[in-house]
Amino acid sequence: MSPEKTAITTNLMPVSPFARLAGLLEGVAPGGPVVDLTVGEPHHPMPDFLMQGLAEAQELFGKYPPIRGSVEFRAAVSDWLSRRYPYLDGLEETKLGIIPLSGTREGLFYVAFSARARRPDIEKPVILMPNPFYHTYAAAAGACGAEPVFLAAGPESGFLPDLDAIDDEMLARSVAFFLSSPANPQGAVADEGYLEKTVQLARTHDFILISDECYSEIYTDQPPPGALETASKTSKTLANVISMQSFSKRSNLPGLRAGFCCGDPEFIEDFASFRNVVAPQTSLVVQHACVRVLADESHVEVTRDLYREKFEAADTILAGRFGYKRPEGGFFLWLDVSEFGGSEAAVKTLWKECGVKLLPGRYIARDEADGTNPGEKYVRVAMVEDLATTEDALTRIAGTLK
Ligand SMILES: Cc1ncc(COP(=O)(O)O)c(C=O)c1O
Repeated sequence: MSPEKTAITTNLMPVSPFARLAGLLEGVAPGGPVVDLTVGEPHHPMPDFLMQGLAEAQELFGKYPPIRGSVEFRAAVSDWLSRRYPYLDGLEETKLGIIPLSGTREGLFYVAFSARARRPDIEKPVILMPNPFYHTYAAAAGACGAEPVFLAAGPESGFLPDLDAIDDEMLARSVAFFLSSPANPQGAVADEGYLEKTVQLARTHDFILISDECYSEIYTDQPPPGALETASKTSKTLANVISMQSFSKRSNLPGLRAGFCCGDPEFIEDFASFRNVVAPQTSLVVQHACVRVLADESHVEVTRDLYREKFEAADTILAGRFGYKRPEGGFFLWLDVSEFGGSEAAVKTLWKECGVKLLPGRYIARDEADGTNPGEKYVRVAMVEDLATTEDALTRIAGTLK
């Protein structure tokens, strides 16, 4: 069966956007040297001390890792959180749950089951998520028996879901809300006011706010605020709020498969017990290396500079085109290609005429009730290559779509 034939999205099990893209471009030859800017896989150097960190702990390959992580890993996360979000400094361990993840993706999937399980009183549970969305959110909702509810996150609402537009019936049935900030793909950042309101909704309706902060360290000027700090400022507790963090984007380590989940200690304890029987444990060798990676900010600053250079190039090459605006955070461009036939047509044209491969926006969004798709007008560009490759690709995009 060709990938196109498998490209059916159902409410329960969405198909990978990359499989759909393979179907779209099947049999179409690239019209130039290939540059693939589809996957959010940073091609910047990894921290040079990583291998040493792995090597010094290699005897730990002989041990099954405890699901709650090593003491040193949890301490390193706690220290990092205190530095990054000063308001969390001094929070006792009993008030802040922390567990390692084998990449944030698996955590985002399994967490939905625990969020659903804590509200057995809700007969027809729903999980709220932005539209466009990271596919794991929808898969997690479907798998745990909750209906995914897609909240439009287009330009009218600043590319984040409009919290005032969620109806009360949905809120009453919600067991979780996946929020992505900085948002993949639009790069919008939820400010403190927005986070405060979302935390408030989670507490009023007793659901779990799952704040996906994988891109929190990739920004131009101001570090984006975090949901935990906002929750703690508002009420001195982390009740109903967890944050998901990844080493893939901050430290250019998508192949390490490492991240962590932190926040509401009671919920994290439930999540840890569930994980203890189902989830992949994170290798203690990896956790040991992560301790070193978290303690170092210099490689993260270098990474931010590399992205800054590329966004400066984009500011020039794409000025006045495709509704371009430098994203507040993260490393994607979300370009409006409606003049060029919309997302699939533009991706096909670019591939056929200049060899640049992008992701159609409609593949990472769901049709709304009125039949419109908030990704239809857009293509997503992952700014993950080096400066020269990125400049070349952006120049080809601007030269081809005109
Ligand atoms: C919004 C979002 N959340 C989570 C992830 C998963 O990251 P990880 O590599 O830690 O599994 C990604 C990866 O691209 C992402 O874009």
